[in-house]
Amino acid sequence: MFKALVALTTPLLPEDYLSLVDPLWSTTELRGRVVGIRRETDRATTLVIRPGRAWTGHRAGQYVRIGVDIAGVRHWRTYSLSGPEGDGDITITVQALPDGLVSRHLVDATPVGSIVRLEQASGDFVLPSPVPSKLLMLTAGSGITPVMSMLRTLGAHPDVVVLHSAPTADDVIFADELRARPGTTVRHTSADGRLDLADLDTLCPDWRDREAYACGPAGLLDAAEQHWGDARPRLHLERFTPPTRSTGGEGGTVTFGDREVEVDGGASLLEAGEDAGVLLPSGCRMGICFSCILPLRDGQVRDLRTGEIRGEPGDMVQTCITGATGTARLDLRPAEETR
Ligand SMILES: Cc1cc2nc3c(=O)[nH]c(=O)nc-3n(C[C@H](O)[C@H](O)[C@H](O)COP(=O)(O)OP(=O)(O)OC[C@H]3O[C@@H](n4cnc5c(N)ncnc54)[C@H](O)[C@@H]3O)c2cc1C
Ligand code: FES
Repeated sequence: MFKALVALTTPLLPEDYLSLVDPLWSTTELRGRVVGIRRETDRATTLVIRPGRAWTGHRAGQYVRIGVDIAGVRHWRTYSLSGPEGDGDITITVQALPDGLVSRHLVDATPVGSIVRLEQASGDFVLPSPVPSKLLMLTAGSGITPVMSMLRTLGAHPDVVVLHSAPTADDVIFADELRARPGTTVRHTSADGRLDLADLDTLCPDWRDREAYACGPAGLLDAAEQHWGDARPRLHLERFTPPTRSTGGEGGTVTFGDREVEVDGGASLLEAGEDAGVLLPSGCRMGICFSCILPLRDGQVRDLRTGEIRGEPGDMVQTCITGATGTARLDLRPAEETR
């Protein structure tokens, strides 16, 4: 039947006609329509998105990659799903960065009715099954979003301690919901200072016995990793920004396909390639989604997180967390695979 339709509608595909009627209908890419907008704070907005039928759902705490077209160029970014598991529509809650390209577009220039590209939900920052009897949520800023998905899914779970920080009362996303939850402490860092993890002994004396979920700025998460020490297996982290980069890289000359690009010591291959106008695949831009991988043809590269130099011909290189060290050549993916 589909083949017959293709024959009838060539050179256009049936999909081209169907997507005129229903923009969410596509066999080749998953799309979503913005069906609602909720302002959360001056800088943060929740977008309610109705995904196409191919959407397979999400677990609380997972994220989705969203593609938006800005000035004719498609940009992909990652956003945690803030709604509970099982809802038909999905929500993301975006906090606009002052110079953020996609976050400002989503917060300020994406009206109801807009179509976005989606990928299926992924990520392992999720609650185990069965849900542990005692939980601790440690969040700051927009790091509350995946945890809010968990809280909304858990409903009236009896023993969840939530410690959330935001600069001022006006910056607290989901403020009313948090205030209504027993066991929640919200700290306003501009008045009270940043949370010192030594205070955990007072705020949540049995923190070592709880399954802990933390999401927020890199400083908080790095400090939590250190603080948990032997209890580290009970701490689950979700990072929105990459861990600190190692310093001291020498840089080098990297050839992407047939384009030669000079890469500075501290720059990632992805950043340097894009700055030079090479169309490169990317997603989270911080080493978690693996959508930026390109095959190394020859040479060596440097892991920006550890400083380790590595590379054998044929190795797959995550360009967003890899820098140059001397010369290297990378193959580009076929054009139809890049986005
Ligand atoms: C797993 C995951 C889940 C995420 N969930 C959310 C979410 O629920 N809500 C949300 O608002 N954001 C979330 N993010 C961050 C989001 O993907 C984007 O990084 C963020 O919106 C900035 O994109 P941009 O295009 O506006 O900024 P860009 O134009 O890419 O960057 C502008 C400047 O901001 C810096 N920057 C980029 N990202 C961040 C960041 N996260 N924090 C501080 N500085 C940054 C860049 O280095 C650059 O200097 C998540 C990221 C990941 C990896
Ligand atoms: S862009 Fe996600 S791992 Fe590189």
